[in-house]
Amino acid sequence: MKDKKRIMSGMRPTGKLHLGHYFGVLKNWAELQEKYESYFFIADWHALTTKYNQTEDLKDNVKNVLLDWLASGIDPEKSTIYLQSLVPQTAMLHIYLSMITPQNWVERDPTLKDLAKIMKDKQENMSNLSYGLFGYPVLMTADILSFNTHFVPVGIDQVAHVELSRDIARRFNNIYKTDYFIEPQPLLTKIPLMKGLDGNKMGKSFNNDIKISDSEEITAKKIKSGITDRNRIRKDDKGNPSNCEVIFDYWKIFASEDEVSEICEGCKNASIGCAECKKRLAQKVNEMFAPIREKRAKYENNDSLLKEIIYDGSKKASKKASEVLDGAVQAIKMYR
Ligand code: TRP
Repeated sequence: MKDKKRIMSGMRPTGKLHLGHYFGVLKNWAELQEKYESYFFIADWHALTTKYNQTEDLKDNVKNVLLDWLASGIDPEKSTIYLQSLVPQTAMLHIYLSMITPQNWVERDPTLKDLAKIMKDKQENMSNLSYGLFGYPVLMTADILSFNTHFVPVGIDQVAHVELSRDIARRFNNIYKTDYFIEPQPLLTKIPLMKGLDGNKMGKSFNNDIKISDSEEITAKKIKSGITDRNRIRKDDKGNPSNCEVIFDYWKIFASEDEVSEICEGCKNASIGCAECKKRLAQKVNEMFAPIREKRAKYENNDSLLKEIIYDGSKKASKKASEVLDGAVQAIKMYR
């Protein structure tokens, strides 16, 4: 359909994704792809902005992200799934956008400020902030504008970046007296945050996550370590689900209302102990992820299919990005 609005979003190739990614991002994308012309990309250039000297795992990380996307229902028949470094038009657009972006707009970027602070705290010299990392917000703008995107589904932490892309789009239009670029808007979806097993934010580096690709055994073992009601020490102590720090929250994600109230009662009257509760929860989680994991395993053993998917998607993305780039080049009045 011609008149569908476009969305685009991306992720750095960090490796195997966890349930926080699934519920926070992928499930949402899978729904959005039904309604929008969708572009989803693996941001391998962005990975190089900070990990330029740690590339040993880059290929595997890209592959694992792609596998998790496909398994979670991001569908190459419905969405354009591509690899950033296979769409050179974005780099070309980045050059043009970098010319018109005032340096202090980039310096204002909150993520960059955070990064600069981290680097300082690590006693690293600020000059270790590379030219590429410094330009990261402009590259992200180029990602977004490459498809003349209407909406960008992102988490709250990325909204400032999308706003910068609006500012740059508007500046382009003003400078070249055109209305060529759409000013993209963030698309925020209300998604409850999935806690890690220790009650903190779920994250790979915190060692508190459950991976989409974890086996049933590992999943059960991890859930066993999840925090419950800290006051409930023995099985026949009566528990209080509203003090249960993690496991009860998970129940609400994975089970029906009836099942949740059954567990709730069992906890309160001590007929279900924490160990039993976690065992049952693990079953629910494994049940929900069984088809996803099955799908993942199928793709995992088919490298040539994976390559085909990402190359086909990148070709499609290049075609669209090329059209958009041509229009920008014309608006700038380059000799052609
Ligand atoms: N900056 C995003 C992140 O770190 C990834 C990203 C790069 C992105 N370019 C994008 C997201 C364009 C949305 C649109 O998670």
